[in-house]
Amino acid sequence: MDGLRRWMFGVLAGPALLISSLPAQSVKLAATPPMGWNSWNHFHRNIDDATVRAQADAMVTSGLRDAGYIYVNIDDTWEGERDAKGFIHPNAKFPDMKALADYVHGKGLKLGIYSSPGPKTCAKFEGSYGHEEQDAQTYADWGIDYLKYDLCGLRDLMKDAPSPEAAHKTMIDAYSKMHAALLKTGRPIVYSLCQYGNDAVWQWGSSVGGNLWRTTGDISDRYSRMAEIGFAQAGLAKYAAPGHWNDPDMLEVGNGGMNAEEYRTHMTLWALLAAPLLAGNDLTTMTPETVALLSNREVIAIDQDPAGLQGDRVSAEGPAEVWSRALADGSKAVALFNRHSQPMEIQADFQRLGFTGPVHVRDVWAARDLGTMQSGYRTHVPGHGVVLLRVTK
Ligand code: GLA
Repeated sequence: MDGLRRWMFGVLAGPALLISSLPAQSVKLAATPPMGWNSWNHFHRNIDDATVRAQADAMVTSGLRDAGYIYVNIDDTWEGERDAKGFIHPNAKFPDMKALADYVHGKGLKLGIYSSPGPKTCAKFEGSYGHEEQDAQTYADWGIDYLKYDLCGLRDLMKDAPSPEAAHKTMIDAYSKMHAALLKTGRPIVYSLCQYGNDAVWQWGSSVGGNLWRTTGDISDRYSRMAEIGFAQAGLAKYAAPGHWNDPDMLEVGNGGMNAEEYRTHMTLWALLAAPLLAGNDLTTMTPETVALLSNREVIAIDQDPAGLQGDRVSAEGPAEVWSRALADGSKAVALFNRHSQPMEIQADFQRLGFTGPVHVRDVWAARDLGTMQSGYRTHVPGHGVVLLRVTK
């Protein structure tokens, strides 16, 4: 306990000063939700330098880079040992992290990395506890542009705290400490908090410098889990803004566990939620259908809308849910979700969606203008599927 207390006091004063300079830097860094790719959902521990390079190559050749996917993020299991001076080195899977960053940058992309505020990461590799400044500087020296900072190992220390409040403070201080360390490097590094939505992270994520914060436990490549996570984001809209995003976890599109309608629901819901779009599949083996789902320009434009207003649920009647998101040009993205496995008819009621008078309606996934409508639009929605509209006054 004594060591922990000393450490907690030690981190307090410095970061507080630095955090006051946060908003300008972090808003610019993630003015819209970050887009890219992350190794975990598909490769888990089987990630290495060659695989990351191949993903970067495919990000370009598939057209995903030009659709906005920029970050190539290495998740857990890259970490090796610390040297006598405490500096972290990658393990044998990543022989030269700087060379890898140069390669990724050479493709017009950015490189992300992963660590934990605890002594160990979730996969029991070396975490940053007690080495925050050193690690941040090492990442900056390598040319890293994005850090996912995953609570995991710190939970053991939090268990030893004398009260829930003290445990909470341990976590806040740890996240603030790494934020201060990142700022000190002078390199713009997107700061992604991963602590599974505990302790209402949306209420304090931006105050510890987070550009995004996971709001849930881990996603998996099943409709039930994706839907459980995605639809549970209702109510969090007010916490998102340019520079600071709710993160319902990385995409599973293209990993094979859901059908096309289900993956369309996944993309649509994430776009309505202004969620980070981090592809989690193998970009080197994508079907044309997967590429089309991930790179639909109109869907991405909704996700990346510059106003940064997260959407929310407007109504739910059993498994029929209508969500909407206000967009910068005054139009609204309106999604009619069918959570049942069988098809059903769902109605968009334009008055209830905040419109008066006639509206122009476009079916986004069908890329079809449906014309001018007066009061509502009733349509067939496939099982586990969605119809996404863009409605303009
Ligand atoms: C946690 C995170 C995942 C992934 C793994 C890596 O489970 O939530 O996204 O980073 O750790 O060990």
